[in-house]
Amino acid sequence: MIKLEALTKIFKTDGDDIVAVDNINLTIHPSEFVVVLGTNGSGKSTLLNLLAGSLSATHGHIIFDDMDITALKEYQRSAFIARLFQNPLAGTASDLSILDNFRLAALRSRAKKVILGNTKAFEEQVRNKVALLHLGLEEKLHRPIGSLSGGQRQALTLLMATMDNMKLLLMDEPTSALDPKSAERVMELANHFIHELGVSAIMVTHSLREAQRFGNRIIQMDNGSVIRDLGETEKKQINLPKLFEWFA
Ligand SMILES: Nc1ncnc2c1ncn2[C@@H]1O[C@H](COP(=O)(O)OP(=O)(O)OP(=O)(O)O)[C@@H](O)[C@H]1O
Ligand SMILES: [Mg+2]
Repeated sequence: MIKLEALTKIFKTDGDDIVAVDNINLTIHPSEFVVVLGTNGSGKSTLLNLLAGSLSATHGHIIFDDMDITALKEYQRSAFIARLFQNPLAGTASDLSILDNFRLAALRSRAKKVILGNTKAFEEQVRNKVALLHLGLEEKLHRPIGSLSGGQRQALTLLMATMDNMKLLLMDEPTSALDPKSAERVMELANHFIHELGVSAIMVTHSLREAQRFGNRIIQMDNGSVIRDLGETEKKQINLPKLFEWFA
């Protein structure tokens, strides 16, 4: 369970201070898949960055399974928090092969269930996992990951996250750089992993269609605050015109 307690981020600039995240209190349960909507600049990415630890909070606390992780560094949190970014290039090392990217991911999280090192067994484990994507990439494990399409990379990044002890998946507009078919495939895959692993997930999106289809909770941010928070039952009843009205 993740608890945000009075979480606040203020950016100090030459002019005014910008309150990007303004005193947010939120509890997210395991298996909860939270979709986050909001206009540009409403604080969505800042919220995700605070959770991942790439930004430090100005005030407030982040509690993860009863442990206060507010002071933990990003690399320490990466053992249990995985990220999928808007830019498929952001999550992987372009020059390295698919296999080496999996090695890096395993090293980063020091996951116990993954066999480390240059062993054949590790390669087999990766090959079997990658085959599940049905993209034919299991035959290309030694190709630089930079030579793949954005959709293929997003799928691989998701897969890497599932090989460690990820408990929270953060996704910031994960499909906005993808063509419709690849976007669909990545979303289906994310949805599958979230359910299969029973992890929590938070996804920022500007796609109302995605927001309606995926997740079992939806929140709207405005000016650093959460102004709407709909649970599963309410979310099921929401339609696209209603969501559109949120931005009127
Ligand atoms: N590093 C920074 N320094 C100063 N201000 C920042 C910084 N990062 C974000 N901001 C400001 O904080 C506010 C929230 O930004 P944020 O990127 O979280 O918005 P967002 O909801 O993700 O927007 P978008 O939909 O455009 O991605 C904005 O006013 C932005 O200008
Ligand atoms: Mg953003």
